[in-house]
Amino acid sequence: MSYFITTPIYYVNDVPHIGHAYTTIACDILSRFSKLKGDETFFLTGTDEHGQKVEKAALSNKKVTQDFVDEMSQNFRDLIPYLGCEIDDFIRTTEERHKISAQFLWNKLKNNDEIYLSNYEGWYSIRDEAFYLESELTETDKGFVAPSGAPVDWVKEESYFFKLSKWEDKLIEFYEKNPETILPRSRYNEVLSFIKGGLKDLSISRTTFKWGVKVPNSKHHVMYVWIDALCNYITALNYPNTSNETFKKFWPGIHVVGKDILRFHAVYWPAFLMAAGLEPPKQIFAHGWWTNEGQKISKSLGNIINPYDIIETYGLDQIRFFLFREVPFGNDGDFSKDAIALRVNADLSNNYGNLIQRISSFIIKNSDSKVSKPSNYKEIDTKLLESFDETLVHYLKNMNSFQIDKALKNIFDYLSEVNVYVDSQAPWSLKNTDNQRMKDVLYLVTLLTIKISILLYPVIPSSIDKALSIYNLSIDNLTLTNFVNFSPDSINLNIPKPLFPRIDL
Ligand code: MSP
Repeated sequence: MSYFITTPIYYVNDVPHIGHAYTTIACDILSRFSKLKGDETFFLTGTDEHGQKVEKAALSNKKVTQDFVDEMSQNFRDLIPYLGCEIDDFIRTTEERHKISAQFLWNKLKNNDEIYLSNYEGWYSIRDEAFYLESELTETDKGFVAPSGAPVDWVKEESYFFKLSKWEDKLIEFYEKNPETILPRSRYNEVLSFIKGGLKDLSISRTTFKWGVKVPNSKHHVMYVWIDALCNYITALNYPNTSNETFKKFWPGIHVVGKDILRFHAVYWPAFLMAAGLEPPKQIFAHGWWTNEGQKISKSLGNIINPYDIIETYGLDQIRFFLFREVPFGNDGDFSKDAIALRVNADLSNNYGNLIQRISSFIIKNSDSKVSKPSNYKEIDTKLLESFDETLVHYLKNMNSFQIDKALKNIFDYLSEVNVYVDSQAPWSLKNTDNQRMKDVLYLVTLLTIKISILLYPVIPSSIDKALSIYNLSIDNLTLTNFVNFSPDSINLNIPKPLFPRIDL
């Protein structure tokens, strides 16, 4: 199986914040999970560098636009390893490969009679880089604003249009046949009712500024930033060369996006693709938005969360874990200091870290740093092993359907069972009464701890590397397929270092 997963490409008008980090980590988790299953995986991210918003930002920073985007794009690239993410490509829309690809797509649409020249007159929001109908706007004392709260301007200019209206029925037909394409389900319903409400042709070029991919054979037009931006996903697969191995293997791909940009991905993008004779995306998953201590995150409120700061304060895996354990993926979430501390302490420090710490220290002290496979298991042991197999089934089902929070809950519910088992078997008492049984219990708990660690790997990879090193193991030799039967004759342990110190409330 092959698996192509993408983040949206980020606007370079400003520095990265928690929202960007969230989408990137989500894709990293899914990409690592896919790799763990043994699937051939391609994880793409990058930066969206054209359009009026970016041009304006360069101007207000008194920078040459190209210099400005070079500098700002680098901030996004630097953030990736800091987030513990491993990508396969980073794309920038100002790269030559992308301009060639976007212009080719344009020509293809033009040749397929999907584009015509006319005039646009209506509302445009630079902040959202989106056209709006007056009926979508709200009137405030500062004038009309977009549903996002962004200001809008009345624009009137010559423009090329894409025949979006023509694709209404085809899109409905496609989605009704493939309802799993848009997830979660509530978002699917939202998109479908938007399409059924009627699609208007879409303005896809601008003439009032210059910072964009040039429309082929036109002096004054640059492409509307969204047609340019969406095309990044196929540029990275070597479009226009659709017969190369990478394209054939990885398209159609899976897009993870914020709910605010679902319409672009689930309506415009599939229509462009179909009109160009290409397959629509395999899946589009829309996630929710984070607030900060109950408040909308915005520059004007001064409550932007800097990913560097929170990782510095709480630790990388603590943050990765919190973001995906605390809030169902797809829902909105609230970022609060207390919630992080409670979550990390309860799950990572107490339930998981403490189990590893006390069992492995005990083995080092009382079992010569080593455990060996028991000759037979008691009924209570077999039950615990069977319960792991059930946990694994749920975990796989949930991870495969983007329900990362549920998959984590499966693991932590199981960890609680293992902790109850340890308390009931009390190896510290067995030490004096039945040394062999003590060793058998320690082996089983160690084996299950290793298996649980592998399931946690996509979410907290660097901590799992550390955890596995206690057992002289490395994730590189363990996959979700070969670890099912994993039960080595003996396991040698190294002295553990605490993985998750408790966070003070
Ligand atoms: N450039 C476009 C995407 C083009 S993709 C072909 C864009 N960029 S963005 O930088 O503004 O936003 C990128 C992502 O960040 C979006 O998915 C958006 O939902 C996400 N977030 C921005 N703020 C967020 C939160 N407060 N919480 C969660 N995600 C948020 O849109």
